[in-house]
Order: sequence, then structure tokens, then C-alpha cells
Amino acid sequence: MRKTQVRITKVLPIVLSKSIKKLPEFQGFPVGHYSYSMFTLACTNPVMFKIRYVNGDVIDTTTSVSAVLGNAVHKALQAYLGGEEDYVTPAEEGEAIKHGHARGLEYLNAYSDGFISWTEAMPTRAKLEEKYAFCYFGYIKDFQYQKRAKKVLIVDKMLKYRVEVEGQNLPIPLKGAPDFVYEDYEGRVCIEDHKITGLYSKDEDIDGSKLIQAAFMYFLVYAETGKVPYSITFREFKSTKNNPCKKDKCKESHDPQGCHSQTKPFRFVYSEIPILFELFYRLYGDITDLLMGKAVFLPNVRAMFEKEVSILAYIYRLDVGEERNQAFKRMKVENLTDFLKEKIQKEGSLKKYMETVEASFISASTLNYKDMKIEERIKMKMAEHGLGIEFHSKVEGYSVDLYRYEPSIGVKMSKIEAYSKDIEQVVEVSGIRILAPIADSGLIGYEVPRTDRRFPTSKPKGDGFNLAIGIDIQGNEKRIDIREAPHMLVCGSSGSGKSIFLNCLIEQLLRNNQVELHLFDPKQVELFQYEGRKGVVQYAFDHEEINTSLEGLVLEMESRYSTLKKLRVKNIEGTDMKYKIVIIDEYADLVVRGEIGNSIQLLAQKGRACGIHLIIATQRASTKIVSGDIKINFLTKVIFKVSKAIDSRVVIDEDGAEKLLGKGDMLLSTADGIVRLQGYNL
Ligand SMILES: Nc1ncnc2c1ncn2[C@@H]1O[C@H](COP(=O)(O)OP(=O)(O)OP(=O)(O)O)[C@@H](O)[C@H]1O
Ligand SMILES: [Mg+2]
Repeated sequence: MRKTQVRITKVLPIVLSKSIKKLPEFQGFPVGHYSYSMFTLACTNPVMFKIRYVNGDVIDTTTSVSAVLGNAVHKALQAYLGGEEDYVTPAEEGEAIKHGHARGLEYLNAYSDGFISWTEAMPTRAKLEEKYAFCYFGYIKDFQYQKRAKKVLIVDKMLKYRVEVEGQNLPIPLKGAPDFVYEDYEGRVCIEDHKITGLYSKDEDIDGSKLIQAAFMYFLVYAETGKVPYSITFREFKSTKNNPCKKDKCKESHDPQGCHSQTKPFRFVYSEIPILFELFYRLYGDITDLLMGKAVFLPNVRAMFEKEVSILAYIYRLDVGEERNQAFKRMKVENLTDFLKEKIQKEGSLKKYMETVEASFISASTLNYKDMKIEERIKMKMAEHGLGIEFHSKVEGYSVDLYRYEPSIGVKMSKIEAYSKDIEQVVEVSGIRILAPIADSGLIGYEVPRTDRRFPTSKPKGDGFNLAIGIDIQGNEKRIDIREAPHMLVCGSSGSGKSIFLNCLIEQLLRNNQVELHLFDPKQVELFQYEGRKGVVQYAFDHEEINTSLEGLVLEMESRYSTLKKLRVKNIEGTDMKYKIVIIDEYADLVVRGEIGNSIQLLAQKGRACGIHLIIATQRASTKIVSGDIKINFLTKVIFKVSKAIDSRVVIDEDGAEKLLGKGDMLLSTADGIVRLQGYNL
């Protein structure tokens, strides 16, 4: 399988800030610097990016009214905070606020109506001015930077630096103006960006344009101040008034005075998101390549759907760019345009060519699943849901076949599992268990029950203490050392195969003359055939007798402990004591009658060292029977088919046993994980 190299750069790269002056300009390059809006545009609209930045064409279009509003508030805040070059901001707070307001208005008034594209929410200049005042004064009210800032470092100043980072080649200078940079009371350099917004960002959002901006600001502020920036906060002010909400009930993290605030901070702490630098370096390289005429793949950071997937796939080099480039190489494509021209000529017209291309994509409506093999059906169904998986291999087992797939870029494991019903529908088999991923591999698996189910014909080959449990999908016998296990819980609904399984263990244990078996059979019909066999020291079905015997075993355990102490040994190995294996078929029967006391508990906790091991089987997977204490002490769990997923979770903490097929089809759960096995039938 192709392994994807994931490299996360440590934060805090070395930046030699002022070296720009000493270094020669990057010769003959279409642009003189990079800015974060250029990067975002390159990612969202590469054609427009080239038109604007390479051709230098300024296309005069109208500006959206919300952008005009945002710019005006920015201008006003810059003036209020004293960041202007040609005006001096009054020292007195009230005057400074007024000064800022006037400068913002001035900006608005310089914008003529015709260049603004108005919206229903802001249809007129009067409305725009009203919103502007609401946003500016509201922002300042919530802003209260004096509470956070010990010292203001930068206010809206245009910075341009060529930065150098160890291991990265960044020849084009970066340019940008941070809105507000300060040192907080803990001496950390914090960057803030004023944002006027219609909707707050969600805390869990991965927002590509914010990431890009954060990286630019990091480098520029680092270069300007010589200090490593700690965080960047996008201070979002909502331009429409929030509904007042009850403070104690509100879950929003508005800042700073609770819910009535219109401002919400969205903060990145640089040391927590090294992914940001990974994204930045890649974009830097790719956009430079783009400007040098190479074909590159860029993530659409503003895509409506799956933008996170697009960004992550890109950062982790999971994009198709490399593969596509290889394909181009194979086809000897040097220039995409020429390549397409040739194709079109061959087909006769662009329209015809598009039809051929179209035909090479399969649409869900034309899919005929009935004609496909199972491996294709699964792949196609997932493709229908937008999840790319490639068939890898098939392993034929006794009760199920395992179809293994390699997931392609950006495929979330949790999504894979969500489509189990859809897969069952196209494969026309129910009970398909999905392994996403298959333990210890990069693959995902679909366990499809076979129509011609087979059973092992061989006998369990376990010897000594190594008991054969069942056969795995590869046909290998899975064994467990009962001394290490050290106690085993067997669960499954009626008829699923518990008793047959216990028989299989007993047969193997009887081959070992160091073992004594105590068989407890409250149902009276499951284990009676072993009564009197050599090695079976006790067979009991009467509840009282079982209870007394268990108490006897506890006493035996205590006396064994004192013997071990006298002999100064840690366990019974090398002594003449025999291993005692206590097997109970239908443990729940005893618990429900309340007769079992705490002997099981005591034996489970301490039995191991003195050679007393428990194997208990039960139909019931309720938490009353499979209690927390039982789960902790019974490290080995064998679960057969159960009726509900919740039963599976009670026993093995995972879904899956509800998909089993019965008749000895089981999941074995140990510290090594969970494997599906087919049990032997004696
Ligand atoms: N490993 C196996 N291979 C083939 N068939 C099996 C296997 N295990 C169980 N079966 C079939 O399933 C039937 C029921 O199995 P078993 O008696 O072990 O169920 P159980 O879980 O003990 O049920 P109950 O809880 O009702 O006692 C068996 O009679 C047999 O036909
Ligand atoms: Mg049974």
C-alpha cells in the first residue's frame, strides 16, 4: 500500500527578518510580493488570480455593500487606535472614538453609490451608515483592548518582509497589514484581526482563508517585532443585532461581557496548530509554481462543501496533483491546453469531447449492480456517496469473506461505517460487518457473510494450556493460554454456540493431566456428558451445591496462597498443585437467583496465581450480569451472536456481535484487540 508521508513542521521556524534588504530581488518573477488575499484567490479562482496579479488588470466591478461596511469600520478602528500616518489621534478616549467615527464616515462618503452592490438587508446609504455606526460603536464597546494589552505594538501598519525559514525556500517577500498587535500582561505577542461578519465562525471550522491569513501575520509580525507571536484572534463582530438571550443558558462564548455582546473571538494559538505552517509552505511552493507556468493542484479553501477535506488532503499531500502529473508524464503531456486541443480535434468538437468525458464517469442512475461482482458493488456504492475506495484484495473465510479496500484521500472512517445498510442492500446480504480500519493496517474491510457457509472439519489442535478458540479468516487456528487469559467470559444469545464452544475447550483441557475441571451446569443439560470423566473432579447442577462448591474453592484458594507463601514462590508452577478450571454454563441463572455471593468475584480477582481459572458462559449481556467488576477481571471475552448492538457494546465495548451469524461465529476480544473466529464443532 502506498504510504502517505505526513510531516508536521514544528512551530516557531527561524525568521531572519531584515535580510530582505541585503538579498537580491527575485529576478523576472510576475509578482513583487505575496499577500494572504492573493493566496486565497489563487485557491478559489486561479484564473482571476492570474488576471489580477500577473496581467495586473484591475477589473472595476462593484464592491459588495458588506465589504464596504467592513472596510469603513476598519478605517475607523485604525484611526481610533492611532494607526494613521497622516492624522494624529486625540489622546483623550472620547475624542479618539469621535475621530475614528468621522474617518470611517469619510471613507463611506468617498464611495459613490454606483460602485456598491446593495442588498435587501442594506438597500440604501442611510441603512449602510446606520449599520456602520452600529458596528463601529458596538465593536469599540466590546473591544476594551486595555484589559488585554499591556503594550500596543502595531496598529494597521503595512509590512513587507522577505522571510527565511530553515528548510524552506521562500524567495518572494510577504506583504500585509496586521490590524492590531499587542503584548499581553504575560508578555506574549498577540495578533488581532477585526472582522465584521454576517455569521460567526463555528469553533470547529477549519477555515482555509483564516489559516492562510494567520500564517502571513505570524511571519510578518515576527519579522517586524523580532518576537515569536503567540496567537491570532479573529474578533468577529456580527453586523445584525443578536437576539438578547438568557446569560446562564447561553452556550455561545461571546466576549467579553456575556451574551449580549456582539463580538465573538475566534482564536488560534500558533503552537497548537503546526498544520498551519504545513499548509502555508505547500501553498507558497505551489503558487510560485503556478506563476511560473506549471500545472498545480490547489485546494478550494472556500468550497461550500468539504472544504476541510480539501485543505487537509492538500496539506497531507493526498491530492491528485502528483498522480495526475505522473499520468501526464506517461501520456507525454507537456501542456494541458495543447493536450485538450488535440483531444477536441480528434473528437470533432468540444461538445463531442465533453460527451466522451461525461461517459467515462459513471452516474448512479446508470449503475447496474446486478451485473457486478461484490467487490465492484461495494466500491460503486461508496462512490455514489462520494467516498473513493479502491479494491485491494479478498480473503475467503469459513463464514465470511473479507473484502479489503484502500481508502482514497479525505475519506473519513466514521463515514465508511455509516453506509453499512446501503452496502447490505447492493450486495444483497445482511449482516455485513465493516472494519474501518482493519486493525493495524491502512485498509478498510467489509466482512460479507458467505452464501455457502463452511465449517471447519478439523479438530482443535490445542495442547497443554494452549487452547484453540477458533479459526480466523486466514484459516489460522487462534489459541489462547488459559494461564495467561486468565479468566474467560463467554456471551451470546440462545443457540449461538456457547455450549459447543465450552465442549471444545473441555475436550482440550481433558488432554492435560495437570488440570482438574469443576463443571457447573445449572441448566443440567449442557455438560452432563462429562460427569465422571478422568480429569473432571466435580460436576454439579444444583444451585446450592454450586454455591457451596464455589465457597469451597475460595477457601482452597486461600490455603493455596499460604502454601505458596511458605514455599516462597509466586505461583503454582513447579509445585505439585494442579490447575483448577471452573466452568459455569449459564452464569446468569446463578446471579438472578442471588445465590452466588461474592465467590466468583474473589476467585476472579485472586485466582490466577494459585492456578484457579474461571470460564463462565451466559446468554444475558445486561450490565447486571456482565458488571464492571466482571469485565475488569475477565480479560478474555468471547462473544457469539447477540440480538442487539448494545449487547455487543456491554461485553466488548464495540458494536459488531449483532452482525455475527450464529453457530460458532464469534468475536474474540483480548488485550490484542478483536478478531472474528469460527468455532469448532465437535
Ligand atoms: N462451532 C459450530 N459449528 C457448527 N454448528 C454449531 C457450532 N456451534 C453451535 N452450532 C450449532 O448451533 C446449535 C446451538 O449451539 P449451542 O447449544 O452451543 O448454543 P448455546 O449458545 O449454548 O445456546 P443456549 O444459550 O440456548 O444454551 C448447536 O446445536 C449446533 O447445531
Ligand atoms: Mg448452551
